[in-house]
Amino acid sequence: MRFCVVTFGCQMNVHDSDWLARALEVRGWERVSEDQARVFIVNTCSVREKPEQKVYSLLGRLGDLCGRDPDAFVAVGGCVAQQVGRGFLERFSFVRLVFGTDGLVRAPDALVRLVGDPRARESLLESSETFVEREDVWSLPGPAPAQAFVNIMQGCDNFCAYCIVPYVRGPQRSRRPEAVLAECRVLVGRGVREITLLGQNVNSFGLDRGGTGVGFAELLDRVAAIPGLERLRFTTSHPKDIDPEVIAAFARLPNLCPHLHLPLQSGSDRVLRRMGRRYDRAAYLGIVEALGRARPDMVLTTDLIVGFPGETEEDFSQTLDLVQAVGFQSSFSFKYSDRPGVAAERMGPKVEPLVASDRLARLQNLQNSITRKCLKNCVGLQTSVLFEGLSRRQARGEVFWRGRDPAGRVVNVPRPESGPELTGRMMQVRLVEAKKHSLLGERAGSTW
Ligand code: SAH
Ligand code: SF4
Ligand code: F3S
Repeated sequence: MRFCVVTFGCQMNVHDSDWLARALEVRGWERVSEDQARVFIVNTCSVREKPEQKVYSLLGRLGDLCGRDPDAFVAVGGCVAQQVGRGFLERFSFVRLVFGTDGLVRAPDALVRLVGDPRARESLLESSETFVEREDVWSLPGPAPAQAFVNIMQGCDNFCAYCIVPYVRGPQRSRRPEAVLAECRVLVGRGVREITLLGQNVNSFGLDRGGTGVGFAELLDRVAAIPGLERLRFTTSHPKDIDPEVIAAFARLPNLCPHLHLPLQSGSDRVLRRMGRRYDRAAYLGIVEALGRARPDMVLTTDLIVGFPGETEEDFSQTLDLVQAVGFQSSFSFKYSDRPGVAAERMGPKVEPLVASDRLARLQNLQNSITRKCLKNCVGLQTSVLFEGLSRRQARGEVFWRGRDPAGRVVNVPRPESGPELTGRMMQVRLVEAKKHSLLGERAGSTW
């Protein structure tokens, strides 16, 4: 059966979609582009209103496609599906499967059943008490990618006032360390060189009912020790949970990449308190300093929200001030978006949309100038780049390849048209020019 997957949301959703696609390929299904597919899988995100609306406009379009082909149908999964549940089946006749964030593991078999029984419709919305192990999908022939994600936990217990994730992904459930290690070993054995450990709040790994006494710092030590693993990363970290042992790991483990995504959300202590984040400016700056001592080449990135209910101009200027003081390499910044059922929905006063847009633009201007400075400082340095694929921008006569340095910066490197394919290769590169969001490099040492 020919299928396609459309994914919204975070890296966890991207990883879930990837697993689902592989699980279907193991069953003999073929992944194709949207115009050739007969089964459309939509993996949804409800973290803000915008990605949620995109799901409904996509469903409108897919409904038209299904109208032309009686055997075609849609499966809706992920965070909006967990929230809306069977409502998708009631509202859209062409939707034949709804699966939630824990239901994902059973989606491949359900899809096979639905193809066999054209009148059937199903929902997989139950939550599970413990981490749900997934079937191994790495037995497929063909080369493994150079870079892979590995889940170490599901859900989140933090209930930050603005956030819907704990409601749609359920409580935090840590995976057994042995299972994490086994998956990492299989991946490295198949040629993966870089692993990113994934969870909503990786620093509290092991601190829930699924815990076995192994904390996040120890897990990092064990994964980093797998022979052949060249780069280890993790995301996302909550500042309140980052432990000195994890900071020390950056000094201790040579293959732990010098990059940390550490969501700040706001630079105002008053707003941080109202958000329920349980750290303040001073604590955040303390972590930044300790990280710099552990790894002087450390690069930080972050998430920021502007226009949280009650945010004043003074609060916002505190955010600008802290962003400047830390000097984040890059950041994701968002306008606060009301989500159903979260604590901030009932907080006021709401910030005027135009005021929030203006703050977002000012914050992004500041970030762009900091990013430019950070990238300029890299010019002239030599670094190792792990290539991920072709660059988006190409020029005549040469092929541009896109990769990342250890700190996660995007580096594009041109190579003559006749040269070798670079995906999955690691190479020494000299950085020659800073672009707006990336660097341009040349192969160091030798010519092609
Ligand atoms: N677990 C991660 C974040 C997951 S959501 C963490 O704790 O860092 C990704 C980002 O979306 C958050 O960091 C936050 O900046 C943003 N976000 C979450 N809810 C939001 C909302 N209601 N409005 C705007 N941005 C939001
Ligand atoms: Fe959301 Fe906070 Fe949990 Fe992150 S830590 S997923 S922002 S509730
Ligand atoms: Fe979105 Fe769900 Fe991730 S709400 S950000 S896809 S956890």
